[in-house]
Amino acid sequence: MLQKSIIVTGGAGFIGSHVVRLFVNKYPQSRIINVDKLTYAGNLANLKDIEDKPNYRFVKADICDFDAMLSLMREEKVEGIIHLAAESHVDRSIKDPFTFARTNVIGTLSLLQAAKVFWESLPEKYEGKRFYHISTDEVYGALEMTEPQGIEPPFTTKASSGAHHLAYGEKFFTEDLKYQPHSPYSASKAGSDHFVRAFHDTYGLPTIVTNCSNNYGPYQFPEKLIPLFINNIRHRKPLPVYGKGENVRDWLYVEDHARAIDLIFNEGKIAETYNIGGFNEWKNIDIIKVLVSTVDRLLGRPEGTDLDLITYVTDRAGHDLRYAIDSRKLQRELGWEPSLQFEEGIEKTVRWYLENQDWMDNVTSGEYQKYYAEMYYGGGAG
Ligand code: NAD
Ligand code: DAU
Repeated sequence: MLQKSIIVTGGAGFIGSHVVRLFVNKYPQSRIINVDKLTYAGNLANLKDIEDKPNYRFVKADICDFDAMLSLMREEKVEGIIHLAAESHVDRSIKDPFTFARTNVIGTLSLLQAAKVFWESLPEKYEGKRFYHISTDEVYGALEMTEPQGIEPPFTTKASSGAHHLAYGEKFFTEDLKYQPHSPYSASKAGSDHFVRAFHDTYGLPTIVTNCSNNYGPYQFPEKLIPLFINNIRHRKPLPVYGKGENVRDWLYVEDHARAIDLIFNEGKIAETYNIGGFNEWKNIDIIKVLVSTVDRLLGRPEGTDLDLITYVTDRAGHDLRYAIDSRKLQRELGWEPSLQFEEGIEKTVRWYLENQDWMDNVTSGEYQKYYAEMYYGGGAG
């Protein structure tokens, strides 16, 4: 890897922790600086296995703090930025849109401006530098579901090569689609994407943007569908299915996303956008049934016992019907493909949450926030 000093923002969160782990282990000659504010979604226990590595540094900071970002970039002579820090949960954005605008839009702008000021002060300026912004498929809006029973997808990847193997419409999100965000979350991500592209077009900042579909896997905060439902099934608590459970999401194993980020950071073209996904569409209700039967089997309960936990609740406001990514550009240009079949990934994920009940219990009890307080502030508030 060309860049020797890299900031990863949001590295204590779900996807960020997988990216930090991959980079710290794969690039021992590079310094990986994890910048995270440690909001409710940040958990340093996600990185326990690498926190003592000599090429890793954690900095507790808010990306909205321009001065802190600029002085850190100067101190560490930062050459690359992989920007994942964000408010990421749609339901929270519906209740509190301001926090999303602040972190996702102003925070991204603050990082962009700090990178611009620092890199422009160097003799070589932008040469060898990279500002890589991680975005979401939700900025494209929602696709219609034209095939409620599902059809053969136009393209199969390892992720979608299992028995389910369905697409729920003819249309997919391609990189050239216009943005049509519906939730305050996706509107704030769209705003941040626009700023990133504007910094390339106006100042020549070397930017890349990727838009990924729904991730699943270990260390996801249990407000999101998959970890929340695994934990609720384990405790025999109700499973709140929004609306009729007919909404479709396109699921990708988190380590496959981290591998794509590594590839694109190193080999992606400046100013390009790449969509990341596995042509792996599922209706929520079908995933929920897979989760129930997998948890039941692994806990030794008769399979299907916990289907009675399914509880249909009021739909999410503005609930996007279908997301489906067309990731053929990334496959064609950089040779990326998912490595894990969805059914195998779900089995692995359910096992991980059941085998790591301490992690889950620490999060649900709030104990996890003491972990970093003790580590960095001797038990104080931090
Ligand atoms: P997450 O909520 O699990 O983690 C976000 C991290 O950002 C946390 O560690 C949090 O402490 C940190 N953070 C929040 N505000 C901050 C601030 N002001 N300053 C510094 N750090 C701050 O999120 P995630 O699911 O891992 O998503 C990571 C990124 O990937 C986000 O940008 C999200 O939009 C994008 N994304 C997520 C998915 C998905 O399915 N989870 C899919 C596509 C794209
Ligand atoms: O598509 C990428 C996006 O995926 C990311 O940008 C977001 O950060 C990430 O949170 C995710 O957004 P979703 O809203 O799709 O994920 P969530 O896990 O919240 O919900 C998945 C689906 O399940 C969605 O259709 C809503 C539904 N759902 C969710 C929860 C939490 C329920 O039916 N019940 C629930 O309790």
